[in-house]
Amino acid sequence: MDAIQNLPEVSKKDFPLLENNCKSNNKIIYLDHAATTQKPIQVLKKIDEYYRNFNANVHRGAHQLSAKATEEFENSRSVISKYLNANSSKEIIFTRNATEAINLAARSWGEFTLQENDEIILSIMEHHSNIVPWQMVAAKNKCRLKFIGIDKNGKLDINDFKSKLTSKTKLVSLVHISNTLGCCNPIKEITNLAKQKGSLVLLDACQSLAHQKIDVIDLGIDFLAGSGHKLCGPTGIGFLWSKKEILEKIPPLFGGGEMIQDVFEESSTWAELPHKFEAGTPAIAEAIGLAEAINYIKNVGLDNIHQYEKTITKYLFEKLNEIEDIEIIGPPPEIDTKRASLATFYVKKIHSNDIAEILDSKGICIRSGHHCCQPLHRHLGINSTARISMNFTTNKDDIDRFIDKLKETINFLKINS
Ligand SMILES: Cc1ncc(COP(=O)(O)O)c(C=O)c1O
Repeated sequence: MDAIQNLPEVSKKDFPLLENNCKSNNKIIYLDHAATTQKPIQVLKKIDEYYRNFNANVHRGAHQLSAKATEEFENSRSVISKYLNANSSKEIIFTRNATEAINLAARSWGEFTLQENDEIILSIMEHHSNIVPWQMVAAKNKCRLKFIGIDKNGKLDINDFKSKLTSKTKLVSLVHISNTLGCCNPIKEITNLAKQKGSLVLLDACQSLAHQKIDVIDLGIDFLAGSGHKLCGPTGIGFLWSKKEILEKIPPLFGGGEMIQDVFEESSTWAELPHKFEAGTPAIAEAIGLAEAINYIKNVGLDNIHQYEKTITKYLFEKLNEIEDIEIIGPPPEIDTKRASLATFYVKKIHSNDIAEILDSKGICIRSGHHCCQPLHRHLGINSTARISMNFTTNKDDIDRFIDKLKETINFLKINS
């Protein structure tokens, strides 16, 4: 248990940005891990090593540098595949981020497969990345979008889902853990229901991949989208996972080098998976850095991370609940035991941007706004919220300091409003 409680003390040392800040007089407390995570030294060193020692293009040159770069790049695919318990690394398609992964599914699978009057089910808590691509496909293929609501605790309303699922549903595309409500959606139950109607399921796993184990086979899903930078990895790299039998049937989205088998003047044939979906030179250093990040997280241990984050989330909620005027959106930890280690809240008559700005001046980084969830905010009748998001590097002192400064900030804004 002590090992788990000491997690932030041990791991913070690996994160230069967090560690250097702890030593400086203007110490900052980073509580925006849901927007992007900080990077451990192991990842920074691996990227540096690639550029210094074996920088070359992949899959092309016959020389030793290219062979080494290709080996490390393809090893990254294998690390991701094992992390998800996928059947094969050929099922991992590298993208720039999760947004591009969802767009790839929407364009390559959606446009190719969906017919007029088919239905796609999303939820009201989706990130814009899991709404806009489907709106675009729905407009083009004349399909209909349906949105699952939330219950009084801020969890997905499963009865509403059941009432919206029909034999016209061809895809259910849902977030695993909401970046705003923090709730963890019951994906296995949803998948079981969706399969009974013949629908596929896409999982937006951006907020869950660094916090709990994900097994794509056990979940029974058909697509998964993830972003490297939320996994302690670099920006510019993400991935789409899907089943080989789906990926083999659908057309590529981008054309160019690397994704072809033969090019003739009038037409071309496609390369084998996964290369069919990866046109042009990929983000090599970023993919290699991402594998190092996943290995780092695996070393810390997803079970340890999950257990530790549960304790700090409970602590955060207790502290926030002591502050009058604060309204938290999303289920409390006692109602959703798998919820994320984040809290999203608002204070009546005070704009969340003012809270975030004043906290920033006191060295505390949080996020404010709609968190790319405008439909959710509109549904709740709120313009904007403040969000604090933690990970295994956050300790109780960080939370205490944040709570003290938040109290000061709210009092100041109340007096001046
Ligand atoms: C739940 C969720 N989905 C999708 C995204 C989009 O991720 P990216 O901007 O890395 O594509 C985010 C990013 O905040 C997110 O939190």
